[in-house]
Amino acid sequence: MEPNRGSAATLDGLVSQLHVIFESDSVNVEEVKAVMESYTSNPDEWRKYAIFDKGRYTRNLLDQGNEKFNLIILCWGEGHGSSIHDHSKAHCFMKMLQGSLKETRFDWPKDDLRKEMVQRDVQILNNNQVAYISDEIGLHRVENNSHVEGAVSLHLYSPPFQTCQTFDQRTGHRETVPMTFWSRNGKRTQSEAPAQENN
Ligand SMILES: [Fe+2]
Repeated sequence: MEPNRGSAATLDGLVSQLHVIFESDSVNVEEVKAVMESYTSNPDEWRKYAIFDKGRYTRNLLDQGNEKFNLIILCWGEGHGSSIHDHSKAHCFMKMLQGSLKETRFDWPKDDLRKEMVQRDVQILNNNQVAYISDEIGLHRVENNSHVEGAVSLHLYSPPFQTCQTFDQRTGHRETVPMTFWSRNGKRTQSEAPAQENN
């Protein structure tokens, strides 16, 4: 049977639908969110890509979206969190596959002032929910505050990017950091350094 356009029953189906949507050069945020929301997480489909590390959350490349987007599975151990970061002018969609994550948004710091960054809103993302952020919306930090459960999230970045900026919450000082992958297509990468960013 033909799958419905705009809904995905499996992870493979979701990836195929995203390829179709991103053939267009303009990104319809609501359409992408809707198709990502339509997929109900099935661990049997993504477990082989979800490679955790004890020390830090990991970024695992799932699909390169014909160079239009990157699809990445992030694995957050108990207590793991990202820096405050931007998204290099890309769209960022984040769908929960397991557990919950806390997203805290911040305003961009004023370049000339060294002062505490302004925290805006906090939301808890539960399983299967999808969040969206871009540089126009602001910056964010993502954390798994659970002491008992790892969290897994599926991230789509379009266009793909190789570096992003991280920010010191106390001063607003920024640094450019490379994006690295802990694994690609379920295979551990050997040459790449641990993640420093994250997205
Ligand atoms: Fe992010």
